[in-house]
Order: sequence, then C-alpha cells, then structure tokens
Amino acid sequence: MDIPTQMDPVIYLDNAATVYPKPSEILDASLALYKLYGVNPGRSGYDLCMVGGELVQSTRAKLTQFFGGTDPDRLCFAYNASDALNLLIQGMVEPGDHVISTTAEHNSVIRPLNHLRRDQGVTVDYVPTGTDGMVDPWEIAKLIRSQTKLVVVNHGSNVIGAVQPVAEIGAICRERGIRFVVDTAQTAGVIPINIQEMHIDALAFTGHKSLLAPTGIGGCYVAEGVEVKHTRAGGTGVRSAYPYHLDEYPFRLEVGTPNVLGIIGLHEAQRYIAERGLEEIYRHEMELFTKLHNALAEIDEVTLHGTTKLENRLPVLSFTVDGWDPADVGVLLDGDHNIACRTGLQCAPLMHDRMGTSPRGTVRLSVGPMNVESDIQAAINGVRDIAEARRGAKKPRQAAGRDHGHVRLVTDEPAP
Ligand SMILES: Cc1ncc(COP(=O)(O)O)c(C=O)c1O
Repeated sequence: MDIPTQMDPVIYLDNAATVYPKPSEILDASLALYKLYGVNPGRSGYDLCMVGGELVQSTRAKLTQFFGGTDPDRLCFAYNASDALNLLIQGMVEPGDHVISTTAEHNSVIRPLNHLRRDQGVTVDYVPTGTDGMVDPWEIAKLIRSQTKLVVVNHGSNVIGAVQPVAEIGAICRERGIRFVVDTAQTAGVIPINIQEMHIDALAFTGHKSLLAPTGIGGCYVAEGVEVKHTRAGGTGVRSAYPYHLDEYPFRLEVGTPNVLGIIGLHEAQRYIAERGLEEIYRHEMELFTKLHNALAEIDEVTLHGTTKLENRLPVLSFTVDGWDPADVGVLLDGDHNIACRTGLQCAPLMHDRMGTSPRGTVRLSVGPMNVESDIQAAINGVRDIAEARRGAKKPRQAAGRDHGHVRLVTDEPAP
C-alpha cells in the first residue's frame, strides 16, 4: 500500500488511546533537537554525546519534579506504561507473594499479574469496583494478609474516566508496610500526581497520551528506599567489563540504547505542559467533556456507563445505544460522521464484567487537549443520528462509497 501523505481531517475523540494530534510546537522542537543531538547519548566523551546525555538527564529531572520525586536517577525510561508495569510488577513480586489489584485495571496490569499467578504461584485478588467504577480503599484494606506484598491500582480509568482515591489507598498501604504501585497512563499530564503526598512507592507512565510525547516512550519512577529487581539485562554504556546488569538506577531498569526522540519529546512536552498549565489543560478538556456528557445523557436510547459525576474524573466516557452493537456504532460514527472513537472492551475486560457490558463492550469517546467545541457538537449530532435510526426516524447513511455492509442492529430485526 502506498501511504498517503495527506489525510482528510478527522474528528478525533480517541485521546484515551493516544493524544492526537500532538501540538506541532512540541513535534517541531523535538525534531529540531533530535536532528542536532540524535546520537547514542552518554556513551562517549565527544560533545554531541555529552549534550545528548544532558538532554536525557534533564528529562529525567523534569519528570521527577513533575511526579513529586526526589532523585532523577530513579526515573527510568521504558517503551510505554505496559513495559514499565511489567518491570515493576515482575521486579517487586516473588513466588508465594500475594498481590491486590482492582477490576478497574488495564490488561497491562491484569496480564502480568495473571502470568505470575499461573506460572509462579503468586496469588492475586482483584477488588471489585462499584458499578460506578470506583474502588473503595477499605475493600483493599480488608484483603491485606501477611503474604501481601504489593497493591497495584489504575489511577484513572481508560474506559469510564473514574479517578481512584490513590492517596487514601497509598496511606493504607504505607501504614501496613505494603508496596503501592500506580498506573498513571491516563492521568499523567492532566491530573496532578505527587508520589510523596499520595504515598506511592512506584508509578508507571506512558509518553504518548497526555504527556504529549511520541509513541514508544514511557517509564517508571521508583521512590527512594524501594527496590525493584532487574528482570532484563544488557548494555548500559558504563562499566562494560562488569559481567552482570548494573544495580544502580537508572541503569537497573534500562537496557540498551534509549528512545532518544521519545525522550526529547517528553522534554519538549514538559515545557508545553508547564506553559499551558496542567489545570488549564484539564479545565479545557472538562469543559468540552461536560457538554458532550450532558448532551448524550439526554438521548433516550443512550446509556452512559460507570461514574456520572463530573468532578475529579477524566474526560472519558463509555456508552451504548439501545439496539446497536457498540462496534457498529463505531463504524457509523466513523463512516457517516468522520468521528474516530474506540469500541469494545478497551483492554479492560474486568471493568466491563463489573459494568455488565461484556462481551460487546461500549463505545468510548475521550476528549484531549487539541479538541475544540465543534468536535463535540459533531459527536453529539452523530450519536443522536444513530439513536434516531433505531427509532426508525432516520436511516444511517453507512458511509457512501465505503463498505459498511456488516453494520447491524443487535436485535433480530433487520437493520434499518
Ligand atoms: C489505564 C491504562 N494503563 C496502561 C495502558 C497502557 O499504555 P501503553 O499502551 O502506552 O503501554 C493504557 C493504555 O491505554 C491505559 O489506558
């Protein structure tokens, strides 16, 4: 396939998957720096390499400060949140340990834990959320036993936007001497995070969502005094004669040449976030989101799933339309209305089990920093159109010229 160099603009409401487009000032500045300093950083003594290494260290320092950490060397880069969660979970748990997590988790927590359960005799409890998707910290406390080593919690749901009370959960873990890991994939860059105030022992982040960097970069911050054993080994650029992987951070959790463009992207995005302001970004997204949420709530055929509160949440919602398969709503939003969304289980199967939306899942719309009012109006019109088609008032246009022949209602009635 020839990759087109131009695409028609899309109304993008899939920011929980990745924020798109990234602000061009971040992309332009990152590319300019990468053109200049895109060598293998910190490996040699020539100037380019030294400055490249400084850029990496400066990014560690910025992110350490961003997360309320104290030691930039404990900010370790990885590919993304999934990679960092694997490093943390596998590096903190031994056979026979007990781990507590929640049904709000993404597969990037559920699957590593299930592997440890299946292959290494680790026991795992998933605390059920309420039907609103919220975790009650005391339900976690009740499950703590002498073998409990670790609690892992998703800070913000990628399905319904619920933001968990991580500071309360962290306080319980700290008091009981249990390690506390937080998945900030959805919250970092929109909700303030402070590892000290939230009693977090280690967090995982991803670059490509609200941290506004390119894909392929993420990492973790490991608080002082917390040990994470390394589960992979390789080049570090220093102490090459030593036969094993290094124990010092950040080398302990990093192997091989880092994603320099990704790290530069994080660096430049930190500047953008600081200039625009975290609070202002959140205010902008929530203003648009509130309009979307309230308009969808008024459509009779639409059910919004999970939390309905509009404070202390993320601008992410999940809905179904009576009579429609969520996948087909996604096809119609795309084909008839040019709207990009996500449908199905969104890598969070336990959350859907709890909400009663398995196995077909939901339609997810998620607002990002680059959305504007007209995107929201288009989404409202699109969902209304699809709901009206159910009433028989309108037929879906099914995207003239595109093959959407499989679109169907979930009832036995023939599709309108
Ligand atoms: C809550 C949550 N955790 C983890 C991840 C994994 O992030 P990544 O795909 O960047 O590894 C995601 C991605 O959607 C997520 O939403």
